[in-house]
Amino acid sequence: MNILEDDNIDNAISVFRSDRQFIDNNSSGIPPRPTPARQPTTTESAAGVVDRSGQRHSPITSGLVARRWQNAKLDILAPRRTGSRSRAARDDSKKPTNGRGGGRSLGSRQNLMLSAVDAEGETSNNPAVIAYNAVLILFDVLVFLVKSVYITVKAIVEMAMLPPARDVSGDIVLITGAGHGMGKNLALQYAALGTTVVCVDVNEKTNSETVAAIKSAKGGKAFGFTCDVTNRQQVMDTCKKIKEQVGVVSILINNAGIMPTHSLLQQTETEIRKTFDINVLAHFWFIQSLLPDMLKQNRGHIVVLSSIAGMIGFKYLVPYCGTKFAVRGIMEALSEELRADPTKPNIKFTTIYPYMVDTGLCKRPYTRFPSLLKMVKPDDAAAAIIDAQRRGLTEASIPKYLLYLNTWFRNLPLRVGQEFGDLLDTGLQSDL
Ligand SMILES: NC(=O)c1ccc[n+]([C@@H]2O[C@H](COP(=O)([O-])OP(=O)(O)OC[C@H]3O[C@@H](n4cnc5c(N)ncnc54)[C@H](O)[C@@H]3O)[C@@H](O)[C@H]2O)c1
Repeated sequence: MNILEDDNIDNAISVFRSDRQFIDNNSSGIPPRPTPARQPTTTESAAGVVDRSGQRHSPITSGLVARRWQNAKLDILAPRRTGSRSRAARDDSKKPTNGRGGGRSLGSRQNLMLSAVDAEGETSNNPAVIAYNAVLILFDVLVFLVKSVYITVKAIVEMAMLPPARDVSGDIVLITGAGHGMGKNLALQYAALGTTVVCVDVNEKTNSETVAAIKSAKGGKAFGFTCDVTNRQQVMDTCKKIKEQVGVVSILINNAGIMPTHSLLQQTETEIRKTFDINVLAHFWFIQSLLPDMLKQNRGHIVVLSSIAGMIGFKYLVPYCGTKFAVRGIMEALSEELRADPTKPNIKFTTIYPYMVDTGLCKRPYTRFPSLLKMVKPDDAAAAIIDAQRRGLTEASIPKYLLYLNTWFRNLPLRVGQEFGDLLDTGLQSDL
């Protein structure tokens, strides 16, 4: 008796119904990804499903519904083609049910049926399957469009009515580069909000001045640690000490940075490596040190200082721009990695893109419209960073409008952006 045939038609219908139900129930937000048991020899790609022999089957979209329909489709096809159940099918049917799909898990069902298709070694021309795929694609596209509209409207509303700033008085914030500039201002302002501040800098003197300034203010809680952020071992050891002496860091602000400003051909190897060591690699060392405890506590926020030079390329800042673009990529990729985590950890990410801030880092700035694009004061920049962190914004530029302006110009031909840059005529002269 071929029990699979009728069973699987029912399965297909019930999976489709439950998927519809699932999507309907979650129409107010992004539904969590399913986590079917994966078979290591079977992979899915955007171009379709690749079986254990490396053969690609029916290129369809890789959506939630599509994936389950793909499984169901293979279920239906397999017994007709093979005429009997494979050993995998027989073994699998003895396993306990998961309450869906008629007694087999999605993953094992997929494995079983891909094996069956393997035996034939061909893809289907069955018009019913082609019709399934067309329905799947249409359904996924429709779901995508509805979600896109909802998310866009929500984002526009949130632009006007920002989420409330959360209380950070119970947090421990670690700020790198706290001895000077924005880092120092961030430390002072977080302390004023009642946050316990951990100041980290390679410069012991300036760092301890920041700590002393916080402690001399009423009720300020601050701890200083001297650390070269480029030294992975030092970073690991420092984070261990911080955990023992202060507690678990809940907000990390990767702020330390340098900015050699001259033509690429004048940048030495040492300079380029150092720029990447401080501005990029240090982020990995701190995140690797602190993220595990954030995950354990299911609470954490990682803030990084990119720059306008992480959105637009500027002359004399080739390695620097490279580092600041990299920071943006790291944050986006890491947040995607955690978004894919089935436990859905409550870790937030904020990337900051300041225009020129008056800390001395930008040595020879120029601008054609000083009243429109004036140097930002370090304490204003720090206030904007803290505000973005407390409201849980993913990205924020200083001033705010630059992020939207940049997004707009990125949609136009590159030359238009360049012309606009020429019109504004702002940037840095070589420091050599
Ligand atoms: N100032 C600006 O115009 C501007 C604009 C956009 C982005 N940013 C970014 O903001 C961040 C802060 O800039 P800033 O202007 O306040 O800088 P800053 O030069 O005023 O301060 C940087 C701090 O980092 C510390 N530091 C440098 N190397 C270190 C190392 N190896 N280990 C530990 N600490 C180290 C320094 O001692 C200093 O205290 C940087 O990442 C910078 O790239 C600055």
